[in-house]
Amino acid sequence: MSQPASPPGRPGPSPWWRSAVFYQVYPRSFMDSNGDGIGDLAGVHSRLGYLELLGVDAIWLNPVMRSPMADHGYDVSDPRDIDPLFGDAADFDALVEAAHARDIRVVMDLVPNHVSTEHPWFREALRAGPGSRARQRFHFRDGRGPDGGEPPNNWPSLFGGPAWTRITEPDGTPGQWYLHVFAREQADLNWDDEDVADDLEKTLRFWLDCGVDGFRIDVAHGMAKPPDLPDHEAWETNELLGHSPSDPRFNNPEVHDIHRRIRRVLDAYPDAVAIGEIWVDNHELFAEYLRPDELHLAFDFHLTLAGWDADAVRVAIEKGLAAVASVQASPTWTLSNHDVDREVTRYGGGAVGTARARAMMLVALALPGAVFVYNGAELGLPNVDLPDDVLQDPVWERSGHTERGRDGCRVPLPWEGKTPPFGFTSAASTWLPQPPEWSALTVEKQLEDVDSTLSLYRRAIELRSEQKEFAGDEVGWYGSPPGCLAFRRTGGLTCVLNAGDRPVELPEGTLLLASTPLTGRQLTPDAAAWLI
Ligand code: BGC
Repeated sequence: MSQPASPPGRPGPSPWWRSAVFYQVYPRSFMDSNGDGIGDLAGVHSRLGYLELLGVDAIWLNPVMRSPMADHGYDVSDPRDIDPLFGDAADFDALVEAAHARDIRVVMDLVPNHVSTEHPWFREALRAGPGSRARQRFHFRDGRGPDGGEPPNNWPSLFGGPAWTRITEPDGTPGQWYLHVFAREQADLNWDDEDVADDLEKTLRFWLDCGVDGFRIDVAHGMAKPPDLPDHEAWETNELLGHSPSDPRFNNPEVHDIHRRIRRVLDAYPDAVAIGEIWVDNHELFAEYLRPDELHLAFDFHLTLAGWDADAVRVAIEKGLAAVASVQASPTWTLSNHDVDREVTRYGGGAVGTARARAMMLVALALPGAVFVYNGAELGLPNVDLPDDVLQDPVWERSGHTERGRDGCRVPLPWEGKTPPFGFTSAASTWLPQPPEWSALTVEKQLEDVDSTLSLYRRAIELRSEQKEFAGDEVGWYGSPPGCLAFRRTGGLTCVLNAGDRPVELPEGTLLLASTPLTGRQLTPDAAAWLI
């Protein structure tokens, strides 16, 4: 594909991903083509026209590789094949080709921290016995206690329960334990083993040769483990979204060698991008992942975690900018993804939550850097309160039914019509049930309504790519009334957010776009506006 022109005002050619709008496709929930109630690759292909209309630069596909689906694809059993649930290699090639024909890049998910316990390596390790070469690709250890009946250390799984599972040895006796920081079906790989790195390189080249434009790297701060897997005494938190800096499961310095290896492969494909999922709060440590020979981009989750509060949003933006400043990397902005509650719900739900999500979308798209939009955010979808018996996230079982997990943000998209399945599938039902009230939020309905959230997204993305005022990497802050924030881009765009409880007067400038209708120059609460 040809190199797109630099964004307005930026000297010289700029890589396409630096200020791209990425659209995250959760393949199970985007569009079903074969009538099984679960989304698939041909479904994504059939809706590329929609994505072109939305104006996004790239899609990031959550995992579509072969997997028993214990964690919806993040338990990979063959990293170089497509899971039949989503289609086959021909469907994948056709999707990539058709996306490129519309100037949409395709980024795949890559899961280097762990593999499925159905992966041939793990099966071989079970058969091969303690001390074998095959077990070295994983973290197998003898248990503690008199009969080895206790886990080798005190690490918890992020999905609940211990991070260790005991196996039965080939001779039928209770055996060693293996490490799994996530579900027990997701065995952590031992990155000190040369096979592991070699195989990942093979996987990278395989998909790059298929034409993909890069990778979103899962748990990219997690692959390297401390050599002796020590106990940790201070388990203050056990969440991916906010683990403590001393958590031994993450951010071990050896992880950077792994990123350098990945980067060396990508450098042979000059347009390809590596985007890391890095849950590291400290700026200096975060920036290390973005050194010139490591990742190109890393997800910044400060905006995702900030509540509806102007000061918190400003701090999140400042942190996001500061985190990349020392390495001259591009910032990234994410309001939601498949692991967190949808923003409409986080900001209060209902009409208020929707208004705030619309406003925050204008804030994110006004900032310099890359923006990630999770499918359905452009429709203003809220989280869904699902009944217990349909929950599928492994978190639900592993937490002993104390944590409901992430299914509420993964419900299939409503495309058209007045009743579920809203054109998502020809089946009678969808893999997670859609609420009947989503009849008001279908793509069909919102395309016809100039005031819909979808129309606002389309317009915002269009302006962002066309207007010269979006140029430049600097963000300058205006003084603003309590509960509000206002910043100005080098190119001249001003963004104002009113998270307070009374209308505020807009600063000087011509109104470009607002998340709500304006009365004169008054910006009402729960709204944002762009001015030039
Ligand atoms: C992904 C999750 C997944 C986990 C384990 C994450 O950070 O985004 O959806 O469950 O990694 O692979």
